[in-house]
Amino acid sequence: MYPIDLTGRNAVIFGVANDRSIAWAIARMLGDAGARIALTYQNDRLKSRVARLADTLDNAIILPCDAADDEQIQAVFAGLQAEMGSLSILVHSIAFANREDLAGRLADTGRDGFRLALEISAFTLLPMVRHAAPLMTSGGSVVAMTFHASSRVYPGYNVMGTAKAALEQEVRQLAHEYGGDNIRVNAISAGPVDTLAARGISGFLDMRRTHAEKAPLGRNITADEVAKTALFLCSDLSSGVTGAVLPVDAGYHIMAV
Ligand SMILES: NC(=O)c1ccc[n+]([C@@H]2O[C@H](COP(=O)([O-])OP(=O)(O)OC[C@H]3O[C@@H](n4cnc5c(N)ncnc54)[C@H](O)[C@@H]3O)[C@@H](O)[C@H]2O)c1
Repeated sequence: MYPIDLTGRNAVIFGVANDRSIAWAIARMLGDAGARIALTYQNDRLKSRVARLADTLDNAIILPCDAADDEQIQAVFAGLQAEMGSLSILVHSIAFANREDLAGRLADTGRDGFRLALEISAFTLLPMVRHAAPLMTSGGSVVAMTFHASSRVYPGYNVMGTAKAALEQEVRQLAHEYGGDNIRVNAISAGPVDTLAARGISGFLDMRRTHAEKAPLGRNITADEVAKTALFLCSDLSSGVTGAVLPVDAGYHIMAV
């Protein structure tokens, strides 16, 4: 528990698959700070697991959302309006690419795989912010999850690096477009965390080892450390911060060798 009070704030968090998800660490952190949490789940297969996690939070709700479907995205925000009235926080913590596109050469990525990765991992932030903004009547904070492969080459990260570059550009553009509504839009660039999505990236365990060896802090980061930064970005402590990509990577990004 940290001395940040989000009582009276409502938060929607996209991207909980299980208790290792970065989104779940963020949900717990924001919930502990007093925010009321809405979690979305991608499909029926994940529903009961997400429901069990939501049950451990105070007064949380769950809503279905396959982000490949515009109508489901829209329905989430209609549901939030009906259940919560207003919204202060949106966390986008979803990404997807076909497994075969997360190994080998980027040049071998097909049109459909490219489209899918960019659509789920980058495009989806746009309709989410568009639908959230009218509910953020007292301003708001949007946080998206990115990775250093947006600007540096990580063999195996491939098209997901392309998607993260797009996502980070969106964060800057949206920060500009919604700043007048006092809606801040930022991204956290997390070091490698052992999650379901991360295990799909070829060479992920090597990536973790290299980070731990070379990062100034001499270790990997935890999902809770990402969540603490999300808590900061979702609170008034960061009221002057927007359009930023904040690395939470034990300092790895500053190293040249
Ligand atoms: N784990 C890491 O090392 C790391 C590092 C930096 C950034 N990230 C980013 O953090 C975010 C969360 O990933 P994670 O590592 O917690 O893994 P995770 O597997 O726990 O979460 C990924 C989530 O994306 C959701 N998702 C995928 N396709 C979807 C769709 N069509 N509709 C709705 N939801 C969909 C999944 O249901 C899942 O909840 C991702 O954006 C990821 O790229 C992860």
